[in-house]
Amino acid sequence: MSFYVTTPIYYVNAAPHLGHAYTTIAADVMARHHRQRGEEVFFLTGTDEHGEPVADAAHALGIAPQELADRNAERFRALAPQLHASNDFFIRTTDAQHEAIVQRVLARVRENGYVYEGTYEGWYCPRCADFKAENDIDEGNRCPIHHIELTREQEDNYFFRLSAFQERLEELYAQREDFVAPRTRYNEALSFIRSGLRDVPLTRHKLSWGVRVPWDPEHVFYVWFDALLNYYSALSYAPAPASVSAAGAAERGASLTERMWPATYHLIGKDILRFHAVYWPALLMAAELELPRHVFVHGFLLMEGEKMSKSLGNVLDPFAVIERYGADALRFYLLRDVPFGQDGSVSTAAFELRYESELANELGNLASRTIAMVHRYRDGVPAVLAPDAELDADFDGLASEVQWMIDRAELTGALELIWQRVRRLNRYVEERAPWQLAKDDTRAQELDGVLSTLVAGLRVVAVLAHPYLPDATDRLLAALGVEDRSLECARWSSTAALGARLGELAPLFPKS
Ligand code: MSP
Repeated sequence: MSFYVTTPIYYVNAAPHLGHAYTTIAADVMARHHRQRGEEVFFLTGTDEHGEPVADAAHALGIAPQELADRNAERFRALAPQLHASNDFFIRTTDAQHEAIVQRVLARVRENGYVYEGTYEGWYCPRCADFKAENDIDEGNRCPIHHIELTREQEDNYFFRLSAFQERLEELYAQREDFVAPRTRYNEALSFIRSGLRDVPLTRHKLSWGVRVPWDPEHVFYVWFDALLNYYSALSYAPAPASVSAAGAAERGASLTERMWPATYHLIGKDILRFHAVYWPALLMAAELELPRHVFVHGFLLMEGEKMSKSLGNVLDPFAVIERYGADALRFYLLRDVPFGQDGSVSTAAFELRYESELANELGNLASRTIAMVHRYRDGVPAVLAPDAELDADFDGLASEVQWMIDRAELTGALELIWQRVRRLNRYVEERAPWQLAKDDTRAQELDGVLSTLVAGLRVVAVLAHPYLPDATDRLLAALGVEDRSLECARWSSTAALGARLGELAPLFPKS
């Protein structure tokens, strides 16, 4: 089994903000979960460095685009480890290997008859790097996303014959209803296709910051075609990740492309749906390459009702949030508070509330109390006993339910399933009141059962929540003496963590 997940590659025209961190965190949760399943996993993120968004920003600063790209790419690269993102590679579209593959694949598209010369005339947003159709323009010829005035472009270009894929794309959507999710985004992409596809510029003549067109070096490729191909090109020069080497694939001579292509999931924001759900499959068909299995489209993080973005100036700095609360808290908050796939507001107040009530009180206290009671009443050793049958209905099969949800990128839903069990365990502590049982020697066996059940429950939730809270659950599982992070360890009947002395646990989520 192989699992390949990608984030969009981020424009280096500005510093990273929470919107970028969001997709990276979501992809990381999926990657970590699939590694827990013992699969070969490749998780890709990186930066989109060509095109007008970057050229214009560099120009405004009076520096060369490459210099701006080098400066900001490092900030994006540094963001990933701070989020505890376990990406296997970080691609930059200025990598020479990527550029060579872009040239090769697009030359192939031309050989296959899908490229012709023409003149483009129409509206263009330099921030989106997007040619806007007449029905996609706000009053006063403004960009509906960036609210800036659009430019009227007239340019001799090479065109990509997108219209040739009308029928094949409609067939794709008919045959694979899970190609794009959630359903609203599937419908949106399909209606765009049904409204009639028009050919799109494949190259730019006016711009020099991009990948040279091999058959006409006065042109560079339109940044979106260059950018989309990162998902394919990275596999040809990234080193094999540990999960693949572990399976011995590299030794057997299979390339990463052979092992990992096509991608299992492209995670994207809703603003770049058309590129991924329409242009991208058409381009792959034109190049005779296999299509990705799923495109999952998340919503926007909103601040005071507006999309958070650098150009609108309403950004929450992820670095500052992490410094104060830690990466786990940020990961948890974003996937818990905003249903993954929908828009949602974020705020410091909501963040602090979740941190205190759910992380510190519900999970943090449950863990500290349980471990402290095992130390106090049983010298640190929970008895090897089957967990209380009363909780079977809650915990049996939980791992499969979580797996089912994550297979559909329902990351908020999966986390809710886990959190219901955290709450169930807290109720169980209150119902059984182990501190009362401890006062009565005749109830020693009952106390053993309760403590072992709590330890088992903690183990299950920690293993399942590990992709969301990698640091806190590592500390918790270490205190429980559990080394294995595989999903096998989330089985309710497993006796891991029982019969040996537990370690100490510092507060998982200290209150500031
Ligand atoms: N470079 C293109 C993507 C090319 S992929 C082949 C691009 N870059 S971007 O930096 O502008 O945005 C990257 C992603 O971040 C997009 O999916 C976008 O939706 C996401 N976000 C940017 N701001 C966001 C929010 N406020 N909320 C959630 N995600 C948003 O587009």
